[in-house]
Amino acid sequence: MGEQKKTGQSDTKNIGLRGVVVADTTISKVDGEKGTLIYRGYDIAPLARDGCFEEVINLLLAGNLPSAAELATLKKELNKYRTLPEPVIATMKTMPPRMQVMDVLQSMVPLLAMYDPELPEAASPDCYSQALALICRLPLLVSAWERLRHGLNVLAPRSDLDHAANFLYTMQGEVPDDKKGRIMDIILILHADHGFNASTFTSRQIASTRAHIHAAIAGALGSLSGPLHGGANYRVYKMLKEIGSAGRVQEYITGLLDNHERVMGMGHAVYQVTDPRAEILGPMAAELARQAGHPELYQIAEEVREFTTAEMKRRKGRAIYANVDFYSAIVNSMIGIPSDLFTPIFAVSRIVGWCAHYLEERFGGANAKPVIYRPRAEYTGRYCGLEGCRWVPLEER
Ligand code: COA
Repeated sequence: MGEQKKTGQSDTKNIGLRGVVVADTTISKVDGEKGTLIYRGYDIAPLARDGCFEEVINLLLAGNLPSAAELATLKKELNKYRTLPEPVIATMKTMPPRMQVMDVLQSMVPLLAMYDPELPEAASPDCYSQALALICRLPLLVSAWERLRHGLNVLAPRSDLDHAANFLYTMQGEVPDDKKGRIMDIILILHADHGFNASTFTSRQIASTRAHIHAAIAGALGSLSGPLHGGANYRVYKMLKEIGSAGRVQEYITGLLDNHERVMGMGHAVYQVTDPRAEILGPMAAELARQAGHPELYQIAEEVREFTTAEMKRRKGRAIYANVDFYSAIVNSMIGIPSDLFTPIFAVSRIVGWCAHYLEERFGGANAKPVIYRPRAEYTGRYCGLEGCRWVPLEER
């Protein structure tokens, strides 16, 4: 928990805003004690087992599981936006291939705004179609970048494929089989929303200034890129590779903890038990590793998970558990995703939540809150009396 104390001005100081409720939402609920996650009232597990990502888009954005007719209409709408403006691709061609993928995305989203006919009407009461366009185009930016940086041509999206399969196709150049497409679909379902996490809060905070939706998404991308947030999955993979064998786990993790470093993919700001998304991805990772005939990565991961949980309990008196990034790293790697695309894939899913929260913050009816977020900080810097510090001319300093 963050520090909580009175500042003497009858304000409560809460470092990191832990436990502070800043808005109402009907989009998702994270129960840290029970280890559950619901989207609009629906538990994540059956959604991942039986639903598809397009249904989750409808659920999070429109608020309901779509009927067959609504789903067909949504898919048609999504197809309409499944294109990248040519100048956006041309601009990407000018970018250094070594540029970090999240930085590429953060740069390109405002450029998409340039080609959105509905902007700059940031005050438009309905950004729903802009949200759909962004949800469709973010994966195309990822695929286009993946191909361009390897000197390959950008592939035209296919209207006969669903969202997840089209993403894999435009990235990898071949239509995925049903199983691989379904794995990507589940990854996208599981990452789509998660309460007031850092990037979602960023998107809501930007929405509260009445900036346009592309500005909110660009900000959220920057927030997600950090290693303590969406950037963790890439680092989990790097860590597992560095460890190299299950026998080296204890020495490696002990070294990290002795240096007060973090074990990536472990621990959570809200869950005090295993993250429910990790509960779903863990068995998937095990099965994929076994089927691929490469169980080593999974074995190392299991050793890391068990040892870290026990060691944190021993050292701090409180165990930490695997979070979503721990196993998504393995699952992504098993379907041929390069590790520096793990966080961008998180973004391809979480953009649905960011958009839903943007819409709720700005136009959410009973939940709309026409107040700009404006916390305060306690000034702890230099103080030279009531008049402030005496100005000293440059030549006298
Ligand atoms: N590795 C090592 N130590 C960890 C840890 C981790 N993964 N997660 C938490 N801790 C430590 C903290 O440093 C803290 O120690 P301290 O009391 O000596 O300062 C203690 O455990 C309690 O931390 P807690 O309050 O539960 O976590 P948090 O809210 O500060 O951090 C995370 C939450 C997610 C930022 C943190 O668990 C973390 O950094 N995890 C690794 C990054 C990651 O996987 N991020 C993706 C999240 S979905």
